[in-house]
Amino acid sequence: MGAERRRSVALGITGASGAIYATRTLAALLAQGVHVELVVSDYGRRLLRDELGEAASVDQLLPFLTKQYGPDVAAGSMNVLSNRDLGATIASGSHGCSGMAIVPCSMKTLAAIAHGLSRNLIERAADVMLKERRPLVIVPRETPMSLPQLRNMVLCAEAGAMMLPAMPAFYQQPRTFDDLADFMAGKILSALGFEHQLYPEWTGKVEK
Ligand SMILES: Cc1cc2nc3c(=O)[nH]c(=O)nc-3n(C[C@H](O)[C@H](O)[C@H](O)COP(=O)(O)O)c2cc1C
Repeated sequence: MGAERRRSVALGITGASGAIYATRTLAALLAQGVHVELVVSDYGRRLLRDELGEAASVDQLLPFLTKQYGPDVAAGSMNVLSNRDLGATIASGSHGCSGMAIVPCSMKTLAAIAHGLSRNLIERAADVMLKERRPLVIVPRETPMSLPQLRNMVLCAEAGAMMLPAMPAFYQQPRTFDDLADFMAGKILSALGFEHQLYPEWTGKVEK
């Protein structure tokens, strides 16, 4: 890969609650100048519209992100791939994607990754990350969790994925949903190897 080529990351959005975590993560990656290969499942598409409104539908995501998070998102680029296209770039280990995050990750997609099903592009790209030993960050959201769901998380962790549950912290004194989303997006960017200032570092005491 040429040194001039910008870093490329895959982002999967599935139908688990927490669409704001996905849009915040996408905006933060774009603001870093990253190229994002974006795949949204059918229920992920529904989630974006149900939780954030029609303005956040996939075909309008860029203007939505610009309005919500500012013009810095223009630093990056984004390619929207069909979840049905198992011949897309990120379905192959030869594609130079440096990592993948699935935000949020439904229990269905979690189960599929745990068992290597590769039935759609999100599942296949996750499988590629595991076989190529590249970072795979899974952000599951469900509560409470059944034993099979807990076991599927262990299987993914054993296979090399980072399990990063949608569990924002409160030490940074969040006041808005955006504060909570910033924390989760920051954790995801850290796990993918990016520096950021999405949440304050823990200083040993709660800053009021
Ligand atoms: C509004 C809404 C919220 C949902 N929230 C969750 C959730 O938090 N966690 C989960 O595992 N599934 C949730 N589901 C169910 C999944 O969307 C469903 O299992 C779907 O088949 C997941 O498919 P996907 O992984 O391909 O997106 C939700 C569904 C809807 C419609």
